[in-house]
Amino acid sequence: AAEHKFVLEIPKVELHVHLEGTITAELRWKFTQRNGTKLRIAKNGPELKTIEELRTAMDLLRPDSSRVNNDEERFQFFEAYYEGFECLKTKEDFFDLAMHYFEHAATVNVRYCELFFDPQGHTSRGTPWIVMMEGFREAQKKAEKELNVKSAWIMCFLRDHSPESAMEHYRAALPYRDIIIGIGLDSNEEDRPPVLFEEVFSLARHDGFKLTMHCDVDSKNTHDHIRQAGSIVAGQGLDRIDHGLNAADEQGLINLILKRDVGMTICPWSYLRHTTYAELGPKIRVLYDAGIKISINSDDPAYMEDCWILENMLLVRLLCGFDDKDIAVLARNAVNISWATSTVKEDIL
Ligand code: ADE
Ligand code: ZN
Repeated sequence: AAEHKFVLEIPKVELHVHLEGTITAELRWKFTQRNGTKLRIAKNGPELKTIEELRTAMDLLRPDSSRVNNDEERFQFFEAYYEGFECLKTKEDFFDLAMHYFEHAATVNVRYCELFFDPQGHTSRGTPWIVMMEGFREAQKKAEKELNVKSAWIMCFLRDHSPESAMEHYRAALPYRDIIIGIGLDSNEEDRPPVLFEEVFSLARHDGFKLTMHCDVDSKNTHDHIRQAGSIVAGQGLDRIDHGLNAADEQGLINLILKRDVGMTICPWSYLRHTTYAELGPKIRVLYDAGIKISINSDDPAYMEDCWILENMLLVRLLCGFDDKDIAVLARNAVNISWATSTVKEDIL
């Protein structure tokens, strides 16, 4: 249809996608075969013997608003997500994984992206930094040259690990700071408020990194976490908030986000794990209509029935009643709230 063509062709910037959330069943199978690693959906799960078994197990993790969540399901997602890391061993694996994202990105006209990665999930398995980062770097160079997709990396700390571990990883990553543009915070948010990580975020800002942080829709203290991320962490609050959808419930939070001009990365499909269709459209609309610079993104496409940025844009178009003009605003927001150089931004706009 015409709207599909418009959404497909518009130049895009993606700001919220976990590289480890792009390990599709096919990729995982390939890496597992190549490395001789075991294939399980979760650490304590049975060994999976075929790609079909893996596909079936991953399919059960997809967001589905007809069985709107419970914490149990959340836990299952994280268990599976981290078990998925196990197939990554060599520089070639990290290179192939990043290249797989960039190749997909090119097919839907993503021209620039800022990609999350979770170093703690790799160092804890004995992966050397150089293996990860040089794999990323080579893919990034090749994508820019051959696919016209530019990129930068956002290093996320796992908030269910200690602030000390975050600090250690921050320091260890400094030799690669030429390709790391920002610092983020992800993983399970339960009892892990933004202010716990004040020290490392303040230091990172001082050192010139951009700052963002997940404020997930299912966090029990969602409003307080958005307030902390928006106004307290690193002295005055962060540069962006990832998700933060529940700001739509409180005018005070909306005002704060507007006043500080904080960009927000919204991942519609992801919220169907915890929200109904009926709730989702209106909430996104509240933020959009308030004039907040929200962007549309994919989060963990491999765990979401292969829904990438294009499918997420089509979903909000439908759920929020957006027209092509609105889609163009959302695409422009992503360019504006990105941390790309002005030359890169102008080239996309
Ligand atoms: N890491 C990867 N996916 C995530 C999500 N949806 N929420 C928090 N942390 C994540
Ligand atoms: Zn995320």
